[in-house]
Amino acid sequence: MISIKSDWEIELMREASLIVAKTHKYLMPKIKPGITTLELDRLAEEFILNNSATPSCKNYNGFPATLCISINDEVVHGIPSKRKLKDGDIVSIDICACYKGYHGDSAWTYKVGNVSEEKSYLMEHTEKALYEGIEQVKPGNRIGDISHAIESYANRYNLGVIRELVGHGVGNNLHEDPEVPNYGKAGTGPVLKPGMVIAIEPMLNLGSPFIEILDDDWTVVTEDSSPSAHFEHTVLVTEDGYEILTKRVI
Ligand code: MF3
Ligand code: CO
Repeated sequence: MISIKSDWEIELMREASLIVAKTHKYLMPKIKPGITTLELDRLAEEFILNNSATPSCKNYNGFPATLCISINDEVVHGIPSKRKLKDGDIVSIDICACYKGYHGDSAWTYKVGNVSEEKSYLMEHTEKALYEGIEQVKPGNRIGDISHAIESYANRYNLGVIRELVGHGVGNNLHEDPEVPNYGKAGTGPVLKPGMVIAIEPMLNLGSPFIEILDDDWTVVTEDSSPSAHFEHTVLVTEDGYEILTKRVI
């Protein structure tokens, strides 16, 4: 069942999402060679708690941290550790916060120092694929329209689309119906209605789309070790289109 949020629920989701956006902004200048992913995690946890929210990922199905931090060939769900960021890495930071029972969810891939041209290409086009998907959000369109827009953009730029991991509804649960795949057929799937909130999150690779899970039972990596990028926004369906709830604050 896909929930339609009331006006007051949407207000709480705006607030949760704003806290997520602010956390990204707070972390951004700290993403430099030498910082450990655990240090970033501690900073984010403190920031979220200081903003009257709680980290949604912490203890979610046993996940041990506030942030999912995934470096290079890690796709998603990397566990913060003593690993230091290095010049040339790309690092995906997925932030989820809960405010008065409602969640916001947004991931972004950042450059650490100077990054190769091919990693920059991957990042640029994964971000653009996200916005291609978001452009499809309006009442009457279907989930498949979003999926198809992302997949065809990724195909055009020769990027691998991961099929096992999908976007999702967001609300008073972090993951709700519907699933929002990054591949599919236009004109299929659930119809979008005002008041629905979905997380759209393309995960694209420079190489093949196949993945593996590491022995920590969380970290998802590409099978061929090719770099992977992840861009995600929480998006509200409005009367005439969409509102990006997690959009970056200036
Ligand atoms: N944004 C991530 C997702 O949608 C959140 C994962 S929380 C975790 O999959 F605890 F599962 F890591
Ligand atoms: Co998500």
